[in-house]
Amino acid sequence: MARSTLLRWGVQSLAPTLMLRRSARAGELGPRLAVDRSLWDDPFPSYDAMRAQGDLIKGRVVYATASHAVASEVLRSPVFRVGINADSLAPFARRMLALAVDAKHPGPAEPPSMLAVDPPQHTKYRRLVAKVFTARAVAALEPRVEEIADELLDRMSRQRSLDLVEHFAAPLPVRIIAEILGVPVSMHRQMLEWGNAAAVTLDPMLTYRSFRAAAIALRDMHTWLDQHLRELRRNPGDDLLSKLATLEDEGEHLDDVELRMTALLVTGAGFETTVNLIGNGVAALLANRDQLDVLRAEPSYWENAADEVLRYDSPVQVTVRHAAEDAVVCGYPVPRGQFVTLMLGGANRDPRVFTEPHRFDVRRENAREHLGFSAGIHFCLGASLARLESSVALRMLFDRFPDLALDGQPVRRPLRVLRGFEHLPVSTG
Ligand code: HEM
Repeated sequence: MARSTLLRWGVQSLAPTLMLRRSARAGELGPRLAVDRSLWDDPFPSYDAMRAQGDLIKGRVVYATASHAVASEVLRSPVFRVGINADSLAPFARRMLALAVDAKHPGPAEPPSMLAVDPPQHTKYRRLVAKVFTARAVAALEPRVEEIADELLDRMSRQRSLDLVEHFAAPLPVRIIAEILGVPVSMHRQMLEWGNAAAVTLDPMLTYRSFRAAAIALRDMHTWLDQHLRELRRNPGDDLLSKLATLEDEGEHLDDVELRMTALLVTGAGFETTVNLIGNGVAALLANRDQLDVLRAEPSYWENAADEVLRYDSPVQVTVRHAAEDAVVCGYPVPRGQFVTLMLGGANRDPRVFTEPHRFDVRRENAREHLGFSAGIHFCLGASLARLESSVALRMLFDRFPDLALDGQPVRRPLRVLRGFEHLPVSTG
């Protein structure tokens, strides 16, 4: 494993790091944001600077945008794709691509994950998963979300001072996703550790150490999920993964690899992001207590508050597409094969769509126009669950602890693509 992991790290992390560093040295803002960690705590001035340079910035290697209009159009365009057609690459690039993936243990954002494939494969995949992951199934989870939140809050009330991520923001979504996937309680902590390791792989610049740790976690996750799915097929439970594993629709079903990848993606996408949404929401509300007053007076705004957090402090800051053909986006030409980095967190602060974009306003009328869940065919499949979990969690937390306050310096996760807190020390009041 060691040699192939080293090779893959070279192709997936080292090569992009060197290219991004060169572009950053040439003054490009998008790459500078990727390589300069000191900008990660507050990337918003960089997004403003990018928009001031133009809606679509042509870099040496990648194009970049922090414009809402450009990002929306790219995400909704059938010309822009997630998967790379190896046949369209030069022989050297094709060899590099083949070296970059661990075909046996792909990550949550690598093919054949739904997130990394285009139609028609994506259409089949998404149609089948959506059959099980319905609005009704999500709504039915609400009492369970409340029950788990209540239990966690009871435990928190025994302490005056604690880490909100460890005691609330992380365990709530982990338990919900574990229940969706039929994962036994004894595996919850392990799932959290695997999810944390897999989340890191979304960043383009990893040290060999974290790349290797992620590769080991992914291999272990695949092995465990394989056994778990075999067990669910033999002995299906009430969970959604059991339903998916036994689903046959219009002669189609998900094969073993597709099922495993769905479970892996839901593990990675399902709680790593929601943990961040809850944490970012708590931080935004504590920094803007007047907004808590608004919510106390008018609790019906809690759902909009979740969307405002997704806009104001997006848990997923960046995604990427490439043009499968020559394209024109909002009037700008994009040549075939060109990669475009979409700063979702920057588009969500575009003043042409959101008035006073740097203000956190739970009553904002168009908060839902954010791109925090992406757009187009890859629009987050778990959006309604994430909205439900976060609005319920935030409401119940502040109802229980109206005097909740920061009790130390919050620490952000050292990641660029996913934005959230590693530690959020609070006193329960
Ligand atoms: C705050 C919480 C969440 C955020 C911010 C979020 C964000 C996103 C984003 C930005 C994408 C698309 C990325 C792209 O277009 O390149 C996505 C896709 C996806 N998300 Fe989420 N997500 C969240 C929660 C969830 C949950 C709870 C689940 C599942 C239970 C989930 C499952 C998925 C899946 C399966 C996809 C792939 C959809 C496709 O490719 O068709 N997400 N999510």
